Amino acid sequence: MPTISKKGQLMPQSPIRKLVPFAEQAVKEGKSIYYLNIGQPDIKTPDIALQAVKDSNIEVLAYSRSEGSEIYRQKISAYYKKHDIHVSHNDIIVTTGGSEALLFAFGSIMDVDDEIIIPEPFYANYNGFSTASGVNVVPVISKIEDNFALPPIEEFEKLITPKTKAILICNPGNPTGYLYSKEEIQKLAAIVKKHDLFLIADEVYREFAYDGNTHYSVMQEAGLDEYAIMIDSVSKRYSMCGARIGCLVSKNKSVIQTALKFAQARLSPPTLAQIASEAALETPQSYFDDVIEEYVDRRNILISELQKIDGVKVAKPKGAFYCIAELPVKNSDDFAQWLLEDFDVDGETVMVAPAGGFYSTPGVGLNQIRIAYVLKKESLIKAVNVLKEALKVYKD
Ligand SMILES: Cc1ncc(COP(=O)(O)O)c(C=O)c1O
Repeated sequence: MPTISKKGQLMPQSPIRKLVPFAEQAVKEGKSIYYLNIGQPDIKTPDIALQAVKDSNIEVLAYSRSEGSEIYRQKISAYYKKHDIHVSHNDIIVTTGGSEALLFAFGSIMDVDDEIIIPEPFYANYNGFSTASGVNVVPVISKIEDNFALPPIEEFEKLITPKTKAILICNPGNPTGYLYSKEEIQKLAAIVKKHDLFLIADEVYREFAYDGNTHYSVMQEAGLDEYAIMIDSVSKRYSMCGARIGCLVSKNKSVIQTALKFAQARLSPPTLAQIASEAALETPQSYFDDVIEEYVDRRNILISELQKIDGVKVAKPKGAFYCIAELPVKNSDDFAQWLLEDFDVDGETVMVAPAGGFYSTPGVGLNQIRIAYVLKKESLIKAVNVLKEALKVYKD
């Protein structure tokens, strides 16, 4: 009998998707579900992007260059300039989503058994990308009581070993919604320089910074050219998750040359989606102003409704569109499943992501859930009401 690889067996299930069979069953039984588990925005994709695909007069849908179309990369570089990020198109490799950019980054800088330090809770697929790359995640815990701010830099330093190759942050954070300050980025910059590590920053939520805070990129920090690798994506920025376009950006020439070899092996990022993504760069600022206003409203409603529930603790997000809520339950995996299998309010229930999968330290975050506020305000209010009623009757 042929056998599955150890790596394959170790690949974690996505905590965001693992409850899908229970949700499907609930729907079959006639329940309707508020999906708070997944970061699929309900915001419309800019017309300009969709129109560009409709207008494209292509006779042969050919491969593009492995590093992505040159004109698209030049336009990305111009977009970054507006965000005070100064990189040339040669510092950019277009990828199949931010996901592939993460895989290329891991593959380019780490060998099997190397270590990467990541503040937890973190985007759950970092576990999957690490397992796929044979790399070990070394978590450093950030706490709900501190709003998930950067843990003290000494905590990172304690974890550095000869096998440590990189620190990975997500800014603004999924699942925490935390936005790192310039000072926090500078502390990380100092430590990676001191220990010769890479600093990978996943900045796919760059535009989603609230309350007048501005996002500070690792690419803006002077002296980090050899150390910084930025991960980016059109998925959330333009509500274009299905386009599957992202990019890896670094001024470190060896990183780019190496990532390009990975890019060559998979030939090309999607051609039609690059046309859409190139056009999306023309999206007017008013689109983002409206989207940000909408998310701030949703966040405010969600947080104030959650705070009204006895025993619920929640950190106020400053960016992205997620929050972590601590519930008066022992095991949020069981609770989330029970919500789908055994509970409803007038035929409605909610699907949430149990937060244990966003931690790599076993046993941490078991009483937390991640909520993606990707639904309209009215639906969010109803969804939180379902949670409130559920917590009144749920027995661990
Ligand atoms: C923090 C973070 N990084 C990367 C990704 C990957 O996005 P994509 O591959 O769609 O660009 C996501 C998707 O949800 C994310 O939340």
